[in-house]
Amino acid sequence: MGIQITPSILNADFAALGAEVARIGSADWVHVDVMDNHFVPNLTFGPTMVEALARSTDVPLDAHLMIEDADRSALAYVEAGCGSVTFHVEAAKAPVRLAREIRSHGARASMALRPATPVEPYEDLLPELDMLLIMTVEPGFGGQRFLDLCLPKIRRARELMDKHGIETWLQVDGGISLDTIERCVEAGADVFVAGSAVYSADDPDRMVAELRAKAEAAAR
Ligand code: DX5
Ligand code: ZN
Repeated sequence: MGIQITPSILNADFAALGAEVARIGSADWVHVDVMDNHFVPNLTFGPTMVEALARSTDVPLDAHLMIEDADRSALAYVEAGCGSVTFHVEAAKAPVRLAREIRSHGARASMALRPATPVEPYEDLLPELDMLLIMTVEPGFGGQRFLDLCLPKIRRARELMDKHGIETWLQVDGGISLDTIERCVEAGADVFVAGSAVYSADDPDRMVAELRAKAEAAAR
């Protein structure tokens, strides 16, 4: 599939989300950070808002669920029109069942790991996933500093995928910018969330192009 750029709208103007999403027309996905004020200390969108957002753009939505009751609520985001739904393994009680449910309802299934959650215990689960998300900050807020300590885990995750011969996408999220994207590519990531880097730029779509160019160059 190659390099994909998935801007997070967490740092966009929430009073003008339709217009904000229209500023990133060249993005591969729009990354929608769903927070419940329990799994993380912040509160954002619910399924009704996400459904309205899905109707407002042709770019597919990539929902990142930072919520406690992922097992019960994830399908609502598939039904809201998200093409990809990511749940946190630390929250899901039955991650295998949940991944299968997401897939059977027609979305890509993805699982996220917080910075302190190792990937090795989930090796056998990787073939159930379309994407693995390795957080490179503690989830909850945009604009945090990239955690270099996550790089070895990205590398180990890519090695496990290669070992199993699977082409699971490997997404990184948190502190991704022109300064940090290359080391993530070198470690094996191929899908890049960028929130503040994109929405603090004068021209967000140009930043998407610059991030893509830098990542593609590093991948060669
Ligand atoms: C953090 C979110 C991220 C965040 C990224 O909990 O999952 O998607 O918006 O923002 P930046 O790129 O500013 O770290
Ligand atoms: Zn996110």
